[in-house]
Amino acid sequence: MTGIQNCIVFEPPFVVTHIMRGKNVVVLTGAGVSAESGVKTFRDNDGLWENHRIEDVATPQAWQADPKLVWKFYQARRRQMNEVEPNSAHVAIAKLESELDNFTLVTQNVDDLHERGGSSLVIHMHGRLQTLRCEKTEQTEHRMADDDLNDDYAYCNCCVNAHRMRPDIVWFGEMPMEMEEIYESVESCDFFIVVGSSGHVYPAAGMVNVAKSVGAHTILVNYEMPINGSDFDEIHLGKAGEILPKLVEDWLMR
Ligand code: OAD
Repeated sequence: MTGIQNCIVFEPPFVVTHIMRGKNVVVLTGAGVSAESGVKTFRDNDGLWENHRIEDVATPQAWQADPKLVWKFYQARRRQMNEVEPNSAHVAIAKLESELDNFTLVTQNVDDLHERGGSSLVIHMHGRLQTLRCEKTEQTEHRMADDDLNDDYAYCNCCVNAHRMRPDIVWFGEMPMEMEEIYESVESCDFFIVVGSSGHVYPAAGMVNVAKSVGAHTILVNYEMPINGSDFDEIHLGKAGEILPKLVEDWLMR
């Protein structure tokens, strides 16, 4: 156990006892929770943005300038979803949901591994890979058939003259989804737990401060110290798939 500024860092297998039953618990996940499933994170050394500059694939301007590049990038990620499986961190979070009455899961991830790991209510603040959005009406459709996964553009079913669809992803410069519901949960939580996020992207990275401002105990599980590490009361460094199941077991013991 070591201290940095105001928080305490625990080396596994150290567990801090908390009673979470009867409390409001919010979990916010990032790319690190899916890393052990084989989904690349964004900012680690072998991360996704190494091969593509972020502004080449994740902005509305990029979609305007080179839609083929953006489309191929997201089609590859959509196809990859069929090849990966949830890991023990996803399962542990689902277990927490199943045992607690007041639980909210918010994810920055666009994959469906939380749902496949057993979570029933997942707020995808940065969108989803399984759905596509009509560029004209903004209606979304679940489009994961084989035909939807090749590098040809997909066209909507909602318009008389089918329009091209775009990834149903929140790009840089766009408003994250369901923010009202998210802030409502964070502003009334007792425990705020972040798993696998580098703390670079706002508003997600700032939610720990909202939670702290209402007196919540803030916990981080991350492979390495993130940029906003000092905002947390309690930090567990290591792989989420190894650390989280043990923590959840302990949090649910009483
Ligand atoms: P990042 O790639 O920025 O950070 C992932 C974090 O997970 C890093 O701090 C890693 O150390 C940590 N990590 C890696 N493997 C881990 C493991 N096995 N267990 C625990 N932690 C692990 O991903 P995010 O913070 O999620 O937005 O990035 C936020 C947003 O940036 C993404 O949602 C995406 C991107 O731009 C959009 O696409 C809109």
